[in-house]
Amino acid sequence: MTPTPVTRRALLAATLGLGSAAALAACGSGSQPVGATAIASADAQRPRSGRTRAYRLVAQPAQVDLGGRTVDTWTYGGALPGAMLRATAGDRVRVDFDNRLPEETSVHWHGLAIRNDMDGVPHLTNPPVAPGGRFGFDFVVPEPGTYWFHPHTGLQLDRGLYAPFIIDDPHEPGGYDAEWVLVLDDWTDGVGRSPEQVYAELKRSGGSMGMGSTGMGSGMGSGMGSGMGSMGGGASDDGATGMGGDGGDVAYPLYLVNGRATTDPDVLRAKPRQRVRLRIINAAADTIFDVALAGHRLRVTDTDGHRIRPTDTASLRLGMGERYDAVATLQDGVFPFVARPYGKHGLARALVRTGAGTVPTPGVVPTELASKPLTVVDVQAAPGSALPPAEPASTQDLTLSGSMNGYVWTINGRTYDDTQPLTVHPGETTRLRIRNASMMSHPLHVHGHTFQLGPAGGIGPRKDTILVPPMLGFEVDLRADNPGRWMVHCHNAYHAEAGMMTRLDYLT
Ligand code: C2O
Ligand code: CU
Repeated sequence: MTPTPVTRRALLAATLGLGSAAALAACGSGSQPVGATAIASADAQRPRSGRTRAYRLVAQPAQVDLGGRTVDTWTYGGALPGAMLRATAGDRVRVDFDNRLPEETSVHWHGLAIRNDMDGVPHLTNPPVAPGGRFGFDFVVPEPGTYWFHPHTGLQLDRGLYAPFIIDDPHEPGGYDAEWVLVLDDWTDGVGRSPEQVYAELKRSGGSMGMGSTGMGSGMGSGMGSGMGSMGGGASDDGATGMGGDGGDVAYPLYLVNGRATTDPDVLRAKPRQRVRLRIINAAADTIFDVALAGHRLRVTDTDGHRIRPTDTASLRLGMGERYDAVATLQDGVFPFVARPYGKHGLARALVRTGAGTVPTPGVVPTELASKPLTVVDVQAAPGSALPPAEPASTQDLTLSGSMNGYVWTINGRTYDDTQPLTVHPGETTRLRIRNASMMSHPLHVHGHTFQLGPAGGIGPRKDTILVPPMLGFEVDLRADNPGRWMVHCHNAYHAEAGMMTRLDYLT
């Protein structure tokens, strides 16, 4: 746990930082953006294990089998989801990234509070990676948990470019025999329209905008759904949760768990009575999922990489970008793990097999999904997991809203780049007053940080992505311990593309 000596990279960054600090010195103190020096010295504080994990990552076009249907799409390494990256907290991770896509791309490490100049946001923290280009990522992973990665370029996330990133805890308390990662997705590429066509259609039609009672995806549902009947997929409209129109803007032809549709799902095997840790990641672009494991209750243990007081539930809800970990004690037989898109038609599932038994029909909806799903308001930080208590030095508003005029989504009335960034000084705690002033749900995500619901030092859970229901809000406290310039945005890929992004800028 001793800080390692300053690395060559840090020295280099420090040298570069001198220039910008000197250039800004004339502006007076207290309001200058932090530079490379602050980023490097914050990084030098991160506890290190002394181990290095080296990975190679290739973004490439590929054919993937979605479970009975083969499509051409973009992937990491030809697989869907891409192969998991894994390290232990404190490890140095080097990722040699190779862009074999026909356009620029980027890689963002969602939820990891790593150094700012490795966050992978093009034109903000890193240059875009050109077609045929490479980039060497090199960072220390600070905290254990379930994370993932994806491009931060246009709508590329709504293709097959996503994969889990698991950070193990050197002091893992365990309490389970096996572990499965379950990645949820909504799928159109190569089946329905391309993400770019979907976006053009939303722009043309003004989307549903969730501003009225017109429901979701006006004009989208029929068009995108046509010709998909052959996939089956057990479209369900059981009405157990509201089809109220706040679930998303796009009706997708397919929903996937681990890259597979219901027609030929991923099969997860274990023995009866084994305890399995499920690491559930919502990698979808426009879809909130309610999930349940038929015949089982789930003991939810973590969200977004932070421990919560273990909480039992029959089902839980994940917004895009959110992660929940839960432990299930397995029965004997065959059980569908089902992800139902909130406010949309269709299902995704994987199959858990611990013994003999017939496979339930693809469209079967577990009774567990009839109960109210667990959400962020139902959980509390585990002892020792909350942010340290601190009086906030500032309070800042984050109002999420949309305009019925065209397909425009805003934060504090503005679209990105025309944004007025949130600001913090290093070491401060700032209170974010998040308010959803629209009739659509938005998963709000902050890069490089976690925030705590309710006051710092209180009992709220710590997260990096929070699903904000229509016309509701949350007050969260964020500790400014990772200097840089960071994205803050809605994790609906189409909302982000339509402007629903801002920044958190550190000032000296
Ligand atoms: Cu997964 Cu900017 O986010
Ligand atoms: Cu949104």
